[in-house]
Amino acid sequence: MVVLLTALSFAVHVPSALGLTFSVPSEPPENASSQLAAAPVGVSLEFFTFPAYINDVAATETCLQNLKDLTGTWPPLRIGGTTQDRATYDASSTEAVTYSVDDPADAPGTLTYGPPFISLAAEYKGSVILGLNRRLNNQENTISAAALAKDTIDNLYAIELGNEPNFFSDSDPIANGESWTAAADYASQISWQDAVCGNLSASDLISAGVYFGTSPMSIAGLADVEGDANTYVKDYCSHNYPQSPNTADLAGLMGHSDIAGQIQEFAYDISAAAAKGKPHIFGETQSVSATQGGGGISPTFGAGLWILDYVMQTILLGTEALYFHQGTIGNCPYCWWGRYNMGAPYYGAYFATMALANADHIAPLDDQTTPYAAYAIYKNGSPVRVLLYNSDYFAEGTRSSQTFTLTGLTSSTVTAKRLTAPYATSRVDRGQDPTVAGQSFANGTCTIQGEEVVESSSVSSGEASFTVGASEALLVYL
Ligand SMILES: *[C@@H]1O[C@H](CO)[C@@H](O)[C@H](O)[C@H]1NC(C)=O
Ligand SMILES: *[C@@H]1O[C@H](CO)[C@@H](O)[C@H](O)[C@H]1NC(C)=O
Ligand SMILES: *[C@@H]1O[C@H](CO)[C@@H](O)[C@H](O)[C@H]1NC(C)=O
Repeated sequence: MVVLLTALSFAVHVPSALGLTFSVPSEPPENASSQLAAAPVGVSLEFFTFPAYINDVAATETCLQNLKDLTGTWPPLRIGGTTQDRATYDASSTEAVTYSVDDPADAPGTLTYGPPFISLAAEYKGSVILGLNRRLNNQENTISAAALAKDTIDNLYAIELGNEPNFFSDSDPIANGESWTAAADYASQISWQDAVCGNLSASDLISAGVYFGTSPMSIAGLADVEGDANTYVKDYCSHNYPQSPNTADLAGLMGHSDIAGQIQEFAYDISAAAAKGKPHIFGETQSVSATQGGGGISPTFGAGLWILDYVMQTILLGTEALYFHQGTIGNCPYCWWGRYNMGAPYYGAYFATMALANADHIAPLDDQTTPYAAYAIYKNGSPVRVLLYNSDYFAEGTRSSQTFTLTGLTSSTVTAKRLTAPYATSRVDRGQDPTVAGQSFANGTCTIQGEEVVESSSVSSGEASFTVGASEALLVYL
């Protein structure tokens, strides 16, 4: 059931003095993205807890399926994280994973995994990146797991050889008693690519780099010395966490121009990957690093708005896909869903997926220097949607709003779907559910519920105006 509302009839907003006008180009402009991937918004599941997400968390499948229903393509999945470099493959194990922890909120310091782990990965209907161990320097062990993965996971997209090796230390087995420098990692990555791909007779298999940030180890530095081993590389991979728990700042996380500034450091690495003829991905990313989203801002609606705008801006920078990390079940503020509750950030991921679904290109209409974003979205050469985002931070008092006027529209009426919540700070577990087109996702199951609310605006002389409240986004269907 769809409820049609005349635009703005229900929103109580205080219009701001400033109006914004954007002309929607009739074809992708010069600063449009390259061809979009079928499903740019993906999910990363922490290695040790991947089987539990699939087997014990009812919402997992539906949360992924909701995204698939928008695009026709299952969101890409990456299985990895810190615990991939604590894991040893045990070919004789009949368990997916074996480990013990004192407290269920902990991640294990050591674990083994068996063939059922790989079989479970093979059951996923979307593409899979599997993160394997390099830190423990047991190359034969990693090759055995890689060989089984290549043979059994039909949708295997890539294998990682180590997670965030920029954090490996001189005392890790892989360092062989030497200093663990950027040069040492580059040489190690390349020799492991040779060995793994040589044994598997494979090329285009490795998700390379897998660095947290861009220093001291960088994609550009690695790509520079890859040489012939570049044929083994499937993609170059960065990890990005814009904030840390001690300095967590929600307004700064979700601010449109703040995001532009934060991701700029990756521009050089993304072009270095392109120069090698390989895509770049953010193979693991989330709002706040460490403690799986500490600092209080990760479970909020504002973190969902960050996801929405961050996806658009990183795609414009040239990345192909982003894998948002989901960590320890029950101890993971930034997680999109859990056993009992939904997480507000999921709404941002869902809305980003709606915006990009089945489109070819997006283009920025604004210059990324203000809090107000507008993106035109193209399919078959024509604009089909416009995404508007008002990143003004709203946490109390009266909600301000921004009027966006779009010109160059060709139909007589347009419709729109709104992403909103009471505040940027709203959290599902505090009873402040966000809504997407009036609907929400049920706790525990991720089933979409409620009546869909579609707004409608008339176009006159190719022009229509839209009001977007502070900390809200609107997807206009042209
Ligand atoms: C296969 O892996 C072994 C063990 O790591 C390594 O010594 C060997 O060089 C590899 N073979 C090829 C063809 O790369
Ligand atoms: C993209 O180009 C348009 C003109 O076509 C310009 O108005 C806009 O500021 C540009 N945005 C960025 C981020 O380059
Ligand atoms: C989810 O559960 C919380 C309580 O933890 C509740 O306040 C919220 O309204 C629920 N959300 C939905 C969509 O049912």
